[in-house]
Parts: sequence; C-alpha cells; structure tokens
Amino acid sequence: MEIFKKNDKLSFVIHRNYHLLPVLNRFGIKLGIKDKTVDDICREMKISTGFFLAIINTYNNEEYFPREELLTFSPLEITHYLKKTHQYYFLVVIPRLDDLLEKLIASNTSDFKGLKMVDVFYKKYKEELTQHINYEEERVFPYVINLIKNKKIDPRYTIRSFETEHSNVDEKLNDLKNLIIKYLTPDYDENICNDFLITLSLFEKDLEDHARIEDKILMPITIEIENKEGR
Ligand SMILES: [Fe+2]
Ligand SMILES: [Fe+2]
Repeated sequence: MEIFKKNDKLSFVIHRNYHLLPVLNRFGIKLGIKDKTVDDICREMKISTGFFLAIINTYNNEEYFPREELLTFSPLEITHYLKKTHQYYFLVVIPRLDDLLEKLIASNTSDFKGLKMVDVFYKKYKEELTQHINYEEERVFPYVINLIKNKKIDPRYTIRSFETEHSNVDEKLNDLKNLIIKYLTPDYDENICNDFLITLSLFEKDLEDHARIEDKILMPITIEIENKEGR
C-alpha cells in the first residue's frame, strides 16, 4: 500500500492520484505548486501536515487507518474539512449531475420510460443524501464542536446517539448506476450518458471516502474525548 509522506512532493502525489485534486481544493490548495513538498504546502497554508496526510492517505487507500496519529487531530479541523466536502457536493457535483441528466433526457427522442425512471430515482436519491448531510450539519457536527468547546451538552447524548447509517445512501447510488447500465432504452446521446455515469461513479467513490473519514476518524476521536470526560 502506497502511503504519502510529508517529504513527498505534492506534484508527485497528484501524478499518482489525480482524484485527489478536489480534496486538495477543499484545503484551499491550488495548482502551480512547483517542487514544494507536502510539508512546505501545509506550512504555507497553515494546515496541520499530519491531518492533511491522514486525509489524502485515507482517500488513496481503503485499508489506511491513522491509528497512532488519530488523537492528535483536531475535531474542529475535521468537521471543518467535512463541511467543505458537503459544500463541494452541493455546489459542484449535484449541479453537474442535474445538468447532465437534463441534457440526457433532452437527447432522448422516442421512449421516455427508462430515463423517466432514472430521473425519479435520482431525485429520490438526492433527497435522501440531502437529509443525511443536513442531519450531520445540524446535529452531529454541532455536538462534536460543543463537546470540544466545553459547552453544556445534554448528558443523555453521546456521539453514538447521532450515529448515521452510510450504507443506505451508498446502496441507493449503486442501484441508480445499475438502472442506467442495465435498463436504459438505447435512445439517448451516449457521450452525455457516459459523462453522467462517470460523474456518478466518481461521486460514489468520493462519498465512500468521505463516509470513511466520518466513521473511522471523527467517530473514534469523539468517543475518546467523551471517555476522557467520563461521559
Ligand atoms: Fe458527511
Ligand atoms: Fe455521512
């Protein structure tokens, strides 16, 4: 398993995995990085290098888990990063998918049944994803932030009370892809359809990695803080 280190050049990291580009953008990093190392860039951007490496390595390897460094990460930094990711979904990915699906439907000339099904399914999926993300933004993250800032929290709650299920959202996206791959009537613009399916697949991967950061980094670190406080 390839693990990126702080002395790796950031250009090397991008050459190895260009899917990390939007992840870098969430940290405010833009291209034109010359020969700077990961550590150089993090210092420049005032990002914790350890946290940055944990995130890019979590995206790069499903097996990666920063067990030792885990407790050194700031939950505030993690929730900030996760919120940036949510914003990216709502401001960039979903509008792109909306637009592609609209064009795909417009390219169909005779049979609307298959695409209509895709449209209904997609809208439902979007609704569920929005609900999931809103719940995290309105309940889960504020709980974590209040815990860190020592604000008063109802003693009946722990982070486990807010545990969210990621598998539902994942499965729905897979069903949507299947619907397109298996049951579309072959009357559509194939280039638009490919773009739609590829964008969906990239989104699926990004969402899985995002959920892994929530489940494997944010959750255990919060539990550890609760344990320390005897909650
Ligand atoms: Fe999330
Ligand atoms: Fe989530």
